[in-house]
Amino acid sequence: MKAEKKPFYGILALPAFPVVLVTVKRNIMTAAAFSFYSFKPPCVMVGIIPENLTCELILKEREFGINIPTKDQLDIVRICGSVSGRDEDKFEKAGLTPQEGKVISSCLIQECPVSIECLVVHEIDYLGTHRWFVGQIKVVHAEEDYTRDQALMYWPKEYRKVGDVLLKIQSKS
Ligand SMILES: Cc1cc2nc3c(=O)[nH]c(=O)nc-3n(C[C@H](O)[C@H](O)[C@H](O)COP(=O)(O)O)c2cc1C
Repeated sequence: MKAEKKPFYGILALPAFPVVLVTVKRNIMTAAAFSFYSFKPPCVMVGIIPENLTCELILKEREFGINIPTKDQLDIVRICGSVSGRDEDKFEKAGLTPQEGKVISSCLIQECPVSIECLVVHEIDYLGTHRWFVGQIKVVHAEEDYTRDQALMYWPKEYRKVGDVLLKIQSKS
């Protein structure tokens, strides 16, 4: 039997989301409000709380980097998710190396196995807690041996590894 719950439970009941490190200019912000938006053109979207420096920077620069940390980089994720770039340089604080992009002028993170360069193509600002930015993927930098299993998940107040594969769908050739 299902019981009626408060509306917010509809969000809490969701499984974990991928953790990414959003870079704009020389700032890094941890985000779990993250999803793909479109396959063609390839777009992703990230939800940013307006008070965060990252929101101000994306509104100005119209671009962002998405860097995928591994489950071994939990410390970095926690630093970049608890300190504002208004107060500290997070590259220095987390011991990270800025990497130049090809299309965006914002920094990427050398230590992350995947870095994605995005240009903002749309934004959603509808009453809620987060302002969503849709970014079209222009360039991807990835380590050859990267697999999705290395990524890190979060929701709510729990960090997790990527789960087991239950079934692999064979594509028709
Ligand atoms: C695991 C985790 C996930 C987070 N997800 C988001 C998110 O999706 N959007 C957001 O705006 N803030 C999120 N935060 C909070 C920001 O990372 C945090 O407020 C940060 O200090 C803001 O940095 P900034 O002011 O330099 O932009 C998250 C924090 C953690 C630890």
